[in-house]
Amino acid sequence: MKLEIKDLAVEIDKKLILDKFNLDVEEGSIHVIMGPNGVGKSTLSRVIMGDENYHVIEGDILFESSSIVKLKTDERSRKGIFLAMQSPMEIDGVSNQDFLRTAISQKNEERVGLYQFIKSVEEAVSDLNMNKDLIHRSLNVGFSGGEKKKNEVLQIKLLKPSLIILDELDSGLDVDSLRIVCENILKYKRENPSTAILIITHYSMILEYLRPDYVHILANKHIIKTGDYNLVSDIEKNGYGKYLETKNTYGEDCL
Ligand SMILES: Nc1ncnc2c1ncn2[C@@H]1O[C@H](COP(=O)(O)OP(=O)(O)O)[C@@H](O)[C@H]1O
Ligand SMILES: [Mg+2]
Repeated sequence: MKLEIKDLAVEIDKKLILDKFNLDVEEGSIHVIMGPNGVGKSTLSRVIMGDENYHVIEGDILFESSSIVKLKTDERSRKGIFLAMQSPMEIDGVSNQDFLRTAISQKNEERVGLYQFIKSVEEAVSDLNMNKDLIHRSLNVGFSGGEKKKNEVLQIKLLKPSLIILDELDSGLDVDSLRIVCENILKYKRENPSTAILIITHYSMILEYLRPDYVHILANKHIIKTGDYNLVSDIEKNGYGKYLETKNTYGEDCL
């Protein structure tokens, strides 16, 4: 697995959100993107996943060395990309269980046996300390914020992606749920070491569990600073201000 984003420019409603955006995510690496509200973090996650509301007007996104920008979301998912959304969608009338079983069959291009399916769902639900009833309810309908986030991680465990994007997975999770969710992601990563993870977050706590190899600050439409884990504590202590005031690599003022 390798993701390469090259000189990407993205528009929504004729408004330029990302520009000259570059990022390489190598197999097995963990990256985090941090940045103030509204800079385009969720836009990045959606454009990687192929949300049609976000228009790529320049540049390219390569996954395993081939361009994916023209592929539909389901095709990207079949290739192994997974987005845990900041606000997972509620779908009334579609049971969580049917959704999961159909998604797994589609991804693996073969029908999943009922017995095997139930066994793996029950195991995953128990690992995540989720209420079993959530499997039979309509997808995300009436789920608490934390239950929705756990349900996203349940999908990761069952769909087995090779690139996981976590858009503010930590929002809506209490400390115990955050720990459980992170332990599950780390276990998945241990069992599938080539999996890469792109974390989007405001908070350092999730990063104490999922230690990133690279920390990027997104502002002024692209990454203005890349560092290692030490950058997180610097942002935590001092905020983004000092980075936003400096010139970026393109010699432009930031924000
Ligand atoms: N569907 C949309 N329609 C209009 N504007 C949008 C839409 N999605 C995002 N934007 C705008 O794009 C900018 C970046 O948003 P977003 O990517 O959600 O930021 P972040 O996740 O960093 O907080 C914001 O100004 C936001 O209002
Ligand atoms: Mg966001």
